[in-house]
Amino acid sequence: MIDVNSLSEKGFLDISIDKNINLTDEINKLRKEKKAIILAHYYQKGEIQDIADFVGDSLQLSQQASQTDAKIIVFTGVHFMAETAKILSPGKKVILPDLKAGCSLAESAPVAQFREFLRNYPEHIVITYINTSAAIKALSDICCTSSNAVKIVNSFPGEQKIIFAPDKNLGNYINCLTGRNMVLWNGACHVHEEFSLEKILELKAQYQEAKIIAHPECKKPVRIVADYIGSTAALLNYTKQDNCSTYIIATESGIIHQMKKANPDKIFIPAPPKDSTCGCSDCNYMKLNTLEKLYICLKYELPEIILDEDIRKKAEVPIKRMLEL
Ligand code: 13P
Ligand code: SF4
Repeated sequence: MIDVNSLSEKGFLDISIDKNINLTDEINKLRKEKKAIILAHYYQKGEIQDIADFVGDSLQLSQQASQTDAKIIVFTGVHFMAETAKILSPGKKVILPDLKAGCSLAESAPVAQFREFLRNYPEHIVITYINTSAAIKALSDICCTSSNAVKIVNSFPGEQKIIFAPDKNLGNYINCLTGRNMVLWNGACHVHEEFSLEKILELKAQYQEAKIIAHPECKKPVRIVADYIGSTAALLNYTKQDNCSTYIIATESGIIHQMKKANPDKIFIPAPPKDSTCGCSDCNYMKLNTLEKLYICLKYELPEIILDEDIRKKAEVPIKRMLEL
């Protein structure tokens, strides 16, 4: 008997695992038997990235989720990402190793307040970052990710009035790049807002040859000192193509796993947050997924993402528009 109560209390099935089993072998066996695909975001723990069928940024993961012919999608990322996969593949079972893997940025846009906010701007179209709940997507005209945000915004004429939500930092970055004056929702990611400019500059003084590379969810002072700004996939590509030997990475530290794999001779230093002695910049939500939870999730096919069909259909429209562009 499995204790489903632990699912609602803890967000995952709390089942003890025989210590003698080899988790990697068991996961491999199960995914083959069940025709499952394991998708992992770049912020996952290295061991999860290594076992995944596909590792990518949020745009690449939603593209994979819309194209796969697997029967089950195991999403090792956060809730809104798994939800996006379910929106795009309603006929598939989408499971997430820990339902409590949320996102502070997605949570910074509660649906009732957002609906109220929109009432003030009847002439504006609504562009939302993919880091939102399905209910917020259902209120949007088009979605974007950090990889394609500028392209999506530029696909509208300059005079078009736009609301951009929920990330004020990404919104401000796009306003600066495009010269637009989009109305910004006041949301942010707790990981990217926490980087300390002082500590980054101290590191730069210590490693003078290093380049600072940053995610656009970072605050403006960090973006100003950055040599390059991009989505997780763009930052990874940059380290592959650029010839510098050392980089200070102002995004979640999970991405460094792929950077090191692709560039074994280069040095990657995580940018430190303000209040931390460990100097790390982990997303506590992303890091809730573990190999053990992945195994249990695949074995029992729980926790599963379930969506209201009406919301799903409405949320599908802005995501599909983005994918078509
Ligand atoms: P990417 O779109 O770059 O994958 O970023 C997702 C995210 O959650 C950033 O914090
Ligand atoms: Fe959300 Fe920030 Fe974590 Fe990305 S790093 S999943 S935006 S909380």
